[in-house]
Amino acid sequence: MTTIAMSGLSARQKYWLITGSVGPRPIALVTSLGSDGVCNAAPYSAFNYMGEDPPLFAIAVDHYGDESHRPGEVKDTLRNILDRREFVVNMVDEPIVERAVMCGSDYPAHVCEAEAVGLSLATSEAVAVPRIREAPVAWECRLFKVFEFSTQRAIVFGEIVSMYIRDDLFDDEKLRIRVDRFYPVGRLGGPNYCRSSDRRRIAVPTYLPTVGVARE
Ligand SMILES: Cc1cc2nc3c(=O)[nH]c(=O)nc-3n(C[C@H](O)[C@H](O)[C@H](O)COP(=O)(O)O)c2cc1C
Repeated sequence: MTTIAMSGLSARQKYWLITGSVGPRPIALVTSLGSDGVCNAAPYSAFNYMGEDPPLFAIAVDHYGDESHRPGEVKDTLRNILDRREFVVNMVDEPIVERAVMCGSDYPAHVCEAEAVGLSLATSEAVAVPRIREAPVAWECRLFKVFEFSTQRAIVFGEIVSMYIRDDLFDDEKLRIRVDRFYPVGRLGGPNYCRSSDRRRIAVPTYLPTVGVARE
């Protein structure tokens, strides 16, 4: 085993070591509205669900880096969310992953990425920000809190106010997602992605056989 102390490393070196080893990560294709009314879409894999009561997501957004033509600028997603206090998280599955990744290019703020890459927008129910029509699942969120923990990066907490689920993925009797029909894509380090089509079921047993319910 190799042990590496974080203290001696540059931010870039830490980024590659951490993002290469935390995976697969779900990909949020976040839509938000600019002050000019242009709908912005960008993928974020520093993203996950944080709780259900209230139902919270967290997304970590950094500033544009030197690889961009906008170095140091705040990303449109963060600026729009701070301005309008709402956004939509669209889940990325296999049919849309390539277009979702293309939305990660450093488009200027006046460009609607969804249109540029061939995705379409649909009206949301509870927020003014459109969702991506082709996304299998989308969550309409209001800004819950922003944690600006460094000059380069902020964590956005969004409270889910409404959820869109494509009909074939929804079991309306059990009020659950039909996981066997849902194929989100995971992100590994850099431009590496994985499918979720190779599955297995592993139930959590109860520690005391006579107390509790096995989680299946
Ligand atoms: C799959 C994928 C995941 C990404 N995850 C993040 C992330 O978690 N945080 C981040 O700041 N940028 C992330 N990016 C980069 C942004 O998507 C990219 O900087 C984008 O241009 C931001 O667009 P915006 O200015 O419209 O918000 C990711 C890019 C890709 C392709």
